Amino acid sequence: MGIKVAIIGCGSIAMHRHAPEYKANPYVEQIVFYDRNEDRAKKLAKKFDGQVAKSVEELYNDPTIVAISDCSTNDVHHIHTSQALLNGKHVLCEKPLATTVKRAEEILKAQEKTGKKLMVAHNQRFTKAHQKAKELIERKELGEVLTFKTTFGHGGPESWGVNKSNSTWFFKKERSFTGVAGDLGIHKIDLIHFLLNDEIDEVHAFHGALDKVDEHGKPIEVCDNVVCALKTKKGRLGTASFSWTYYGSEDNSTTIYCQKGTIKIYQEPNVPLLIETKQGEVVKYQLEPIQTNDNQTSSGVIDAFVDSIIHDKEPAITGQQAIATLKVIEKLLQ
Ligand SMILES: NC(=O)c1ccc[n+]([C@@H]2O[C@H](COP(=O)([O-])OP(=O)(O)OC[C@H]3O[C@@H](n4cnc5c(N)ncnc54)[C@H](O)[C@@H]3O)[C@@H](O)[C@H]2O)c1
Repeated sequence: MGIKVAIIGCGSIAMHRHAPEYKANPYVEQIVFYDRNEDRAKKLAKKFDGQVAKSVEELYNDPTIVAISDCSTNDVHHIHTSQALLNGKHVLCEKPLATTVKRAEEILKAQEKTGKKLMVAHNQRFTKAHQKAKELIERKELGEVLTFKTTFGHGGPESWGVNKSNSTWFFKKERSFTGVAGDLGIHKIDLIHFLLNDEIDEVHAFHGALDKVDEHGKPIEVCDNVVCALKTKKGRLGTASFSWTYYGSEDNSTTIYCQKGTIKIYQEPNVPLLIETKQGEVVKYQLEPIQTNDNQTSSGVIDAFVDSIIHDKEPAITGQQAIATLKVIEKLLQ
């Protein structure tokens, strides 16, 4: 018999990722949906053959629910994720784990108190090209990493979230808190930590609301662009940019410059991973392309979370790692 899971927040990420990936997971038997907008919960329950809960307490108090995905908006992760943990549920929390490091640390305390699994959905770690790049870096195939360059940008969340308009919560200070930094930047900061087995320590950044306007035509309250220079604890230097104003195709690329060559990730549509050596040799890896907002392939996040529960393993992305990433985001926005 499989496990029963629940999803809090039935918007876009629940619909495109959590629900279909739980549905496809052989260890999951039933999905219960909750959203404060009940119609959204009903819609997903119908599509994925699940149940609807009328309140969040109904999920917490149901002893048959083993695990919960927190797919609510950033401002309430610390409430739902902490409460779910304290009620004995394993939790997969969407990124960012919380809107502030302080709130994230409170979640971690709840996790430590109950010993339940807490995983954070930093899904970039799971893509084939990133996994392969990590393997090459760990094997020191091209020597030591010296510098890096990474970016993540698309045309903005107003065409992604369930509310497809400029009144989206992503543009509100009290709901998103961190704008594009916590939305897209956090993925790349976590990716650099993962690939380099290192942590970003020093940050110099510029950020601004350059183009996006809210429903009243006023510049949004959070940043739509960030550019930064970074230094890791091990002394690697890098640059990064995060944007909601890359109108045209999404840019999700990373370059890792090493002593004996360069690793280029997601720079050309049909070449997810390419290596150029100092001697001029070029190696192209044929791997699956990355998910984009318009092309959602399986992220692997949900399977990894379920696997950590079924086989009682440490989750692939821990609360401590998510806090290390969030600390960088806070520094970027200072
Ligand atoms: N890992 C990724 O690549 C990725 C991609 C997109 C979004 N996300 C994250 O997923 C989360 C949700 O984003 P989304 O794009 O699905 O947004 P969305 O606006 O499409 O959906 C959010 C849903 O949460 C519900 N909600 C908000 N507050 C609630 C509450 N207090 N109780 C119950 N339900 C509540 C809303 O009614 C809405 O249906 C965010 O934290 C976002 O950063 C992650």
